[in-house]
Parts: sequence; structure tokens; C-alpha cells
Amino acid sequence: MKYDFNDPSITVALVGAGGFIGSHLLEAILERTQWRIFAVDLDFHKVQQHLQNHRIEFLCEDLEEPSVLKKISSYPIVIQLAAICTPSRYNTETQKVIESNFLTPAALAKACADSGSWLLYFSTSEVYGKTSSEALLLEEDQSDFVYGSIHASRWSYAIAKQLSERYIASLVHLSWTIFRPFNFIGPRMDFVSGLDGEGIPRVLASFCGALVKNEAMKLVDGGKAQRSFTSIHDAIRFIFLVLEKPHLSKQEVFNIGNPDNEISIRELSFLIQKIHAEITHKNPKEYKSPIEVSGTNYYGKGYEDSLRRVPSIQKSQKLLGYLPTEPLEKTLKESVLWFIDHYTPIIENQETQR
Ligand code: UGA
Repeated sequence: MKYDFNDPSITVALVGAGGFIGSHLLEAILERTQWRIFAVDLDFHKVQQHLQNHRIEFLCEDLEEPSVLKKISSYPIVIQLAAICTPSRYNTETQKVIESNFLTPAALAKACADSGSWLLYFSTSEVYGKTSSEALLLEEDQSDFVYGSIHASRWSYAIAKQLSERYIASLVHLSWTIFRPFNFIGPRMDFVSGLDGEGIPRVLASFCGALVKNEAMKLVDGGKAQRSFTSIHDAIRFIFLVLEKPHLSKQEVFNIGNPDNEISIRELSFLIQKIHAEITHKNPKEYKSPIEVSGTNYYGKGYEDSLRRVPSIQKSQKLLGYLPTEPLEKTLKESVLWFIDHYTPIIENQETQR
């Protein structure tokens, strides 16, 4: 079955439409298709400019409500993005993390199996687990999955996602596609603590937030971990390839990533600061030096890290013709600029109110 992008009778359910990925996907669906969107989230501030759009129905309700799951699964395509996905919460709110990343997706998958919807489920690159600094390219259908002791609650999220992947794949009547995103970055990512959220956001937002607030960036365990960052624009292009080619995408797991954008977190901090200085013309001497913190002190007991995580994208190249095109530095420039533009007025406003 094909889904015609120009068919206005198609409605896609976008669960987690108000988040970082959801907000970009919502805009792309509006721009590139004639589809309607049933958008579900508890927070819509990232997409508030679209609240009046006649092609979108917004629902601000919890997924635990059975009637909500029933309504979501009444649509032919269901994209499930909603989840607790910031590492600072994995070891501090473990029960909630497991519920949001296993129980809720499992209930939604069951509802989709019953109704015949195609479920596009966002899992995570974290399912590959505690990868070492020697880890090779991670392949969807080959790589091992290594998780630590039960006390290393950092892996609660990864295990919950793994289990939901396996549960989805076990539902014989369900059409599904599973995505494993590799550190997507771009404008609107996460939040800045103290400005529009509390806690520790993921690394891009954490570093950009520190720079706009003129604070020191924090390097966890010396910033020795490496990540392969993926531009949100490449990620959205990939999702559209999948939507375009359901016959090649159903019952498949795909990494979404860019193996060419690998960098250590320490190098990332230097690069982000360099870009910030170029944009703001701030004297490099005026920056506070990054501070090294231990993972346990920063995130709490039970934190562990994945030291190297590079996606193999062979399968998506072969099946879908996917090739990421956005280099790291370009995406960082766009992101740093967005963080400056978005948060500077909020900081100035806070200062005038003091
Ligand atoms: C994230 C999340 O678990 C998931 O949301 C997601 O699926 C996946 O990875 C992803 O974004 O694709 P992680 O890669 O550890 O996990 O995400 P970050 O919180 O961005 O951390 C990346 C690295 O930067 C880690 O080594 C972390 O310790 C370090 N970090 C983070 C710092 O050194 N300083 C900070 O302020 C924040």
C-alpha cells in the first residue's frame, strides 16, 4: 500500500508532536504533503505558531487514557515519538522512564495492531547499550546489545526501548517500522535549564544554554565519550523516504544517523564555543573554561555512559537510497544561532524584571 502525499483524506497521528523531532516533523508534513495531522502532546509551545492551522487537530492529553490510544490508532499512520528521553532522568525517575518507554508504547502498538494502522516507532541508538571506545559501526540486525547491572539504572531507558521494539515485532498483525535515532541535533532541541525547563538537557542544549547564560560548560568524565550527531534535517528526510516507500520499510528496523559526524564531547565543546564566538564576536578570553565533572556527581548514582556510538547506514542506503548530507559544523552553526536568537530575549526579559 502507498500513501499519496497529495491525498488530503489521509490523517497521520503524530504522538509527541510538540517535542524537538515532533515539531520539525509536523512542519515538514505540512509543507510536503496535503495530509491532516492529529497531533498529541502535553506541551505544544514549540509548535504554537501552528495552533490555528485547519489541517491540524491538537490533543493535549496523557497517553495513559485508553480513549486517547483508541483515537490515535484510528488513523492509518501513527508516528510515536512521545517518551522521556533525557539521560538525567533515567537513573532518577527510573519507574516513570520504563513506563513511558515500554508500557505506553506497548499499549499503543497493541491498539495499532487491532486497528490495522502502520506504527512508526521511535526507539533509540541507546539500545546498543554500553558500547566501548573500540565499538565498531552498529548494525541494526547484527550488533550485540550490552547493558550493565540492574543498579546501573542509566540503562533503564535503553532496556525499555529494547523491550518495546521486541514487543512491537512480536505482534503478528501489526505493520511497523522502528527507528533508532543517533543523537539528532538542531534548533528547538530540548530546553535551557532555568529559562524554559529544569534539569539537565542533552548535550547540545546543555552547551548552548551554558554559553547564552555565560556559564561554564560541564564536561562529563572529561568529555571523552564520542557521539555521531545527526542533523534534524537529514533525519526528517529519512522519515520521508520511509513514508514514501512503505513496501521497503515495513517490518524493518533502521538506524537514523550520520557516521561522518563523529566527535568527542570535549571537541564538541570547543567547536560550539568557537562557533558562538564567531557569531557574537565575543573575545574567546571572556568565556568561562569548561569544568570537568564526574558522571555520578552530575547525573547521580547509577549513571554510566556509552563511549562510542557510530551508526551503520548501509541498510538504509541499500533499501531506501538514504545518504545524510548535513555536516556537523553546519548543523551546529544553525543550532547555536537559534539558541542565541531564541534565548537572549528571554534572558534580557528576566534581567529587566529583577
Ligand atoms: C541520548 C539519550 O539517551 C536519548 O535521548 C537519545 O535516544 C540518544 O542519546 C540520542 O540523542 O540519540 P546521550 O547520547 O548520552 O543519550 O545524550 P546526551 O545527554 O546528549 O549526552 C551525550 C554525551 O555528552 C554524554 O557522554 C554525556 O555524559 C555528555 N554530556 C552531556 C556532557 O559532557 N555535558 C553535558 O552537559 C551533557
